[in-house]
Amino acid sequence: MLDGKKSLFSGMQATNTLTLGNYMGALRNWVDFEDEYETFYCVVDMHSITVRQDPAELRRRARALLTLYIAAGLNPEKNCIYYQSHVSAHAELSWILNCFTYMGELNRMTQFKDKSAKHTDNINSGLYTYPVLMAADILLFQSDIVPVGVDQKQHIEITRDIAERFNTIYGDVFTIPEPYLGKQGAKIMSLQEPEKKMSKSDENANATIFLMDDPDTIIRKFKRAVTDSDNTIRSTEEKPGIKSLIEIYCIATGKTIAETEKEFSSAGYGDFKLAVGESVVSMLKPIQDEFHRLEKEKDYIDGIIKGNAEKANYYATKTLRKVQKKVGFPERIR
Ligand code: TYM
Repeated sequence: MLDGKKSLFSGMQATNTLTLGNYMGALRNWVDFEDEYETFYCVVDMHSITVRQDPAELRRRARALLTLYIAAGLNPEKNCIYYQSHVSAHAELSWILNCFTYMGELNRMTQFKDKSAKHTDNINSGLYTYPVLMAADILLFQSDIVPVGVDQKQHIEITRDIAERFNTIYGDVFTIPEPYLGKQGAKIMSLQEPEKKMSKSDENANATIFLMDDPDTIIRKFKRAVTDSDNTIRSTEEKPGIKSLIEIYCIATGKTIAETEKEFSSAGYGDFKLAVGESVVSMLKPIQDEFHRLEKEKDYIDGIIKGNAEKANYYATKTLRKVQKKVGFPERIR
């Protein structure tokens, strides 16, 4: 809770190559909360440097992601959209929380295991303590809910554990956050291996739809989507490829599973895949157009970056000061 209003935080890694998974699992849901919650949507550029980045490219991508948040429908007057690196309280709280997090807890994080297996030449301690920075992100804003996809659930759980541990020692300092998973889309699957989640780092170019893919590329990837040798369009566990395509189609069109199964009851896989591709093209077109329009509005975007960072700083510093006092840091002399 912030000033008597419910609060929400979420963020994404700084990249402009968001996937359909990022959109359907997270960003799409974010627009629903702006009236009821004080919302903070962060471009988590500090998390991004846990793997090597080209500086100019990171800067470009961070700006593109911030622009994309707005293009996808987040009103920057109502939602606080900002860069993590512009609010130094993230790093400061993260240090304090590091001292309340056990290595045993961090050792269990599946994302650390996956990422360190992928980047064997650079298993840095930032990658290891990544969940602590994430806990700081969330707790700085006294967040009640954190809308994310399934893969981030474990990080919300450790955030809760850290917050509860801190509250047990120092009293009610942090709101304990709940993950918020959408009813649909919380785990969008790879188009090539439908047992695996869609990921931006997949080596197979056909496995992932990117938000900025052009219509022909989107249609081509859906046409090549891996399915099965049966030819009925039904959403069952035995048909993971078709199940996943049905889910994507339902989200893109707003139809139910039953309506979709009925609509395609006499269709073949080829026609269905084409329809799914077309539905995604129509869903993404307005976002892509708005992104290209906003990209040119330099002063407008700069104004948002500045104004929202001030707002985020205000709330974040408030929590940080409270925490610093609790742990025993000397008070500032004014
Ligand atoms: P990131 O950038 O990997 O992903 C951003 C969001 O997209 C969701 N997502 C998916 N949802 C459904 N299906 C998929 N295939 C899929 N792939 C990704 C993720 O669950 C996430 O919600 N550590 C975070 C960023 C972060 C954060 C935070 C999030 C930093 N601090 C505080 C919430 C709160 C990450 O790397 O997300």
